[in-house]
Amino acid sequence: MKKLLLFTTILFSLVLIPQTYAQVDDEELELSPLEKEMKIADKAYKIIKKGLKKGSTTKNKDLIKAAKDLQGSFKKCKELVPLKIAEMKDAKLKKKMIGEYKKAMDVAIKMTVKLEKALKAKDLKTAEAIRKELFEGKKAGHEKFQKDE
Ligand code: HEM
Repeated sequence: MKKLLLFTTILFSLVLIPQTYAQVDDEELELSPLEKEMKIADKAYKIIKKGLKKGSTTKNKDLIKAAKDLQGSFKKCKELVPLKIAEMKDAKLKKKMIGEYKKAMDVAIKMTVKLEKALKAKDLKTAEAIRKELFEGKKAGHEKFQKDE
């Protein structure tokens, strides 16, 4: 009886586990490379936002790490092309938009450098001001470069 139970458990695992992985893969496949990287950036941004809301310097190390992660992520984002631009037919306009996108990402990267400095100096007021600027940059960047659903 025990053997039968063990056999059934193993059989169920073998059938169910690949399905669970397949679902995750399908979800991931639907995202563009930029969306995938932006989601990673989003995680780091949320750590910073939450940490600054609490207004404590005790988790400062984590916030500095998140600012660095955000910077690394934005550097990767800069090298990717938003779907809206990738689908453009007009080559001249496409080139112009890629240039503008890269410039906007450069601004965002610079902000993360400033953010890291402010956090290192434990200047939470400045850090929060930069975080707000980043949020504005995010809103503007999405409005201009993100494809309408
Ligand atoms: C704090 C800064 C930012 C965060 C946390 C962030 C987060 C995200 C997230 C989570 C997505 C995935 C789609 C979604 O859930 O709506 C996304 C997509 C996107 N983001 Fe950002 N973003 C930020 C800044 C920017 C900036 C500065 C730009 C442009 C210069 C930008 C351009 C885009 C584009 C174009 C997409 C769509 C992806 C595609 O078209 O392939 N984002 N972003």
